[in-house]
Amino acid sequence: MQPEAGTVVALSAICTHQGCTVVADGDELSCPCHGSVFDLTGKNVSGPAPEPLPPVEVHVADGAVLPGKA
Ligand code: FES
Repeated sequence: MQPEAGTVVALSAICTHQGCTVVADGDELSCPCHGSVFDLTGKNVSGPAPEPLPPVEVHVADGAVLPGKA
């Protein structure tokens, strides 16, 4: 996601409940397995997920979002 121009934030898509892959659902991320919902900062807001989605380190190079540090 891009909370402001020039800043890119990436989150793990692995649900912190039992490891299913979360999907974008409007302005939230939802888990299809047991219904956990996360906001776009990764915070768990409902459902059984016990922890937020952890951030994933990324950087921008030549207009592309790439994994890891620049
Ligand atoms: S694995 Fe995501 S809510 Fe259970």
